[in-house]
Amino acid sequence: MAGPRKIIIDTDPGQDDAAAIMLALGSPDEIDVLGITTVAGNVPVALTSRNARITCDFSNRKDVKVFAGCEKPIRRDLVTAEHVHGATGLDGPELFDPETPLQPAHAVDFIIETLRNEAPGTVTLCPLGALTNIATALTRAPDIAGRIQEIVLMGGAYFEVGNITPAAEFNIYVDPEAAEIVFKSGIPIVMIPLDLTHKVLTLKARVDRIRALATRPAVALTDMLDFFERFDVVKYGSDGGPLHDPNVIAYLLKPDLYGGRMCNVEIETGSELTLGMTVVDWWQVTDRKHNALVLKDVDADGFFDLLTERVGRL
Ligand code: BDR
Ligand code: CA
Repeated sequence: MAGPRKIIIDTDPGQDDAAAIMLALGSPDEIDVLGITTVAGNVPVALTSRNARITCDFSNRKDVKVFAGCEKPIRRDLVTAEHVHGATGLDGPELFDPETPLQPAHAVDFIIETLRNEAPGTVTLCPLGALTNIATALTRAPDIAGRIQEIVLMGGAYFEVGNITPAAEFNIYVDPEAAEIVFKSGIPIVMIPLDLTHKVLTLKARVDRIRALATRPAVALTDMLDFFERFDVVKYGSDGGPLHDPNVIAYLLKPDLYGGRMCNVEIETGSELTLGMTVVDWWQVTDRKHNALVLKDVDADGFFDLLTERVGRL
């Protein structure tokens, strides 16, 4: 039998990013986290790097390799989201100086070297933030494109449209040029947009089940989720906020929880009005080539069962 699936998590923690990291680290039989690479997004990269390391500490996995990546998008000024995630990016639990070390190499070098060293087609990239590190690696080392098994990313939206502007989802909006490079790369892509993540709500009963585990990682996660949902509960008038990023990991673990279709996805990089919009040809009204499996449906209760079980293993 094949061993656990090898992944690199590229991330900007972010409470929902932390939930994704915990889900992956709680699933060692199925997933081997080769490294966590951080990128500027929700907060600047110094903070996302610190938050990734804190998350490894919370997960009792100080052995995980964390690499700091790009400080700013390829062509634009950085846009951050402290209004959602708090000043630290990981508001909620009491934070501390993490023991998980920061590796000396740059995230982009780690991505390139790992893909060159591992057997072709055996490493999956899991971007949970802006695509700056991934696009920079692909531009600097085009030979790695054919060696990537798959890119499973959280980003974009189509029916649900935008959360940072009326037209754009945050991760794509932060670095639309990077997103364009990735979506034009020819690498197999699975896209998890807001249309799906807005069905995965942190309802009280679901979060209470995680809290009831009463372990340090579980309590830390629920403290994060309590903070994280505040903004969206007010914004959307929903009972609980959408939990975006851990769907990337849950899809790897249990693809049967998810449904979608192959589509063409293009990224808007020209218009200021719709900058970062993901133009998804869901209804196949063009003959543009399919370049992504776009997921839309999810068994949200099944997702929370999985998250609860795996956080319980940390
Ligand atoms: C995405 O934006 C970030 O704020 C979240 O961590 C998630 O990756 C949702 O639009
Ligand atoms: Ca994120």
